[in-house]
Amino acid sequence: MPKTKSKPEPLSVLERDYPRIIVPPPGPKGREIVKLDKAHASTSYIKEYPLAVSHGRGAMVEDVDGNRYIDFMAGIAVASTGYAHPEVVKAVQEQAGRFFHICGTDFYCDAMSRLLERLAMLGPGKGKKRVFLTNSGTEAVEGAIKLVRSSTRRTDLIAFRGAFHGRSYGAMSLGSSKAKQRAHFGPFLPGVHHVPYPDAYRSNTGGVPLTEWALGHIHELFKRHVAPDDVAAIFIEPMLGEGGYVIPPTEFLQSLRDLCDQHGILLVFDEIQTGVGRTGHMWAADYFGVHPDVLVTAKGLGSGMPIGAIIAREDVMKWESGSHGSTYGGNPVACAAALATLEVVERDLMKNARVMGERMLAGLAKLKERHSVIGDVRGVGLFIGVDFVRDRATKEPAKTLVHDLVQQAFRKGLLLLPCGESVIRLAPPLVVDEYDVDKGLSILDETLTGLTG
Ligand SMILES: Cc1ncc(COP(=O)(O)O)c(C=O)c1O
Repeated sequence: MPKTKSKPEPLSVLERDYPRIIVPPPGPKGREIVKLDKAHASTSYIKEYPLAVSHGRGAMVEDVDGNRYIDFMAGIAVASTGYAHPEVVKAVQEQAGRFFHICGTDFYCDAMSRLLERLAMLGPGKGKKRVFLTNSGTEAVEGAIKLVRSSTRRTDLIAFRGAFHGRSYGAMSLGSSKAKQRAHFGPFLPGVHHVPYPDAYRSNTGGVPLTEWALGHIHELFKRHVAPDDVAAIFIEPMLGEGGYVIPPTEFLQSLRDLCDQHGILLVFDEIQTGVGRTGHMWAADYFGVHPDVLVTAKGLGSGMPIGAIIAREDVMKWESGSHGSTYGGNPVACAAALATLEVVERDLMKNARVMGERMLAGLAKLKERHSVIGDVRGVGLFIGVDFVRDRATKEPAKTLVHDLVQQAFRKGLLLLPCGESVIRLAPPLVVDEYDVDKGLSILDETLTGLTG
């Protein structure tokens, strides 16, 4: 496939006609879709607000009734290159016109082999890597659990409170974000131990420095509950996603690395939400300069095509032929999307994420001065969390306010998504520009003013 170097056309003046709400959403067409969905869908779906999409361009989403929105959530941090990026669309169309499926577990295909090579080269840290391709984040986490157990011949796993790793059994067993994600589903995998995640804003350390406090919980676990020699791996989101968009101290991750090396434990970074340029670096691991033995990625990798990957040190990924596979993992069309996505992200979007992330953080700092309900703003690149409180002194989470903010911003043409207890996560497509950032923040400002007087 020839490589295209052309940049996407800038949006025309007409297309800058967003956000625009021409009918209160959901409009008549949207209501039809919502009605059909509600009649037949599994009741487990959440549906944050009644957005029924028609199409998108860059960081703009248009619904079926012609309303246009600025997207600050990218389909939960997935649409890395934005909507309808011409290079990604072309790569998908070309590959779909040749063939859809061959089962990469059993046969070879050019797009898959090239993506394996690309990801092995991009994997964090020095030394050769090997790569396994999946369809989703949770499948990558499941595979990583199997990999670390088989590689170390150990059973136990350490994970963090607040973490979210997916919805299949191994991933759920590692997760500890919301009780309702686990309620009535047990029993889970045995041998999983949870310790607190260091959150500079919310952890109550009783005056102990944050890193020392968080490490103390692991030492306590080793002393009283599980011998380090039984632990196969520590799974951590290097920046907490679903649990509240929390950035841990670099020295904590470095200390985890040292602890793992000391005890022969593997360090696994779940970069499903932080990876593929979101932090302004290919991986959050690169931002921190701390390199895991195994990294799992998914969300942004295919710009929305379902694909994920386990990237591991070669001496870790040496499981036996036939011990793990996937019918669709490494699907050629998804691989083509991922190759194009990685090219665009490396060439244009990591830098853009850094520049636009700084602009967003600076804008949010000003909003914090004006709105006392903003307790904390933190972020790296376009991975930004805004923690809302009822009172800055007590830090009591402002849950109702966050709910109302998300709903009302939607009705004004801004797509937001909550996480944690009372956090708005700002994770827009990495193609956002000055217009998108400034306009989106002004809607946030206006909505907050409306809600808090
Ligand atoms: C950090 C993290 N891990 C794993 C997952 C699960 O990914 P998927 O929904 O693709 O299975 C998610 C999804 O939100 C995530 O944010």
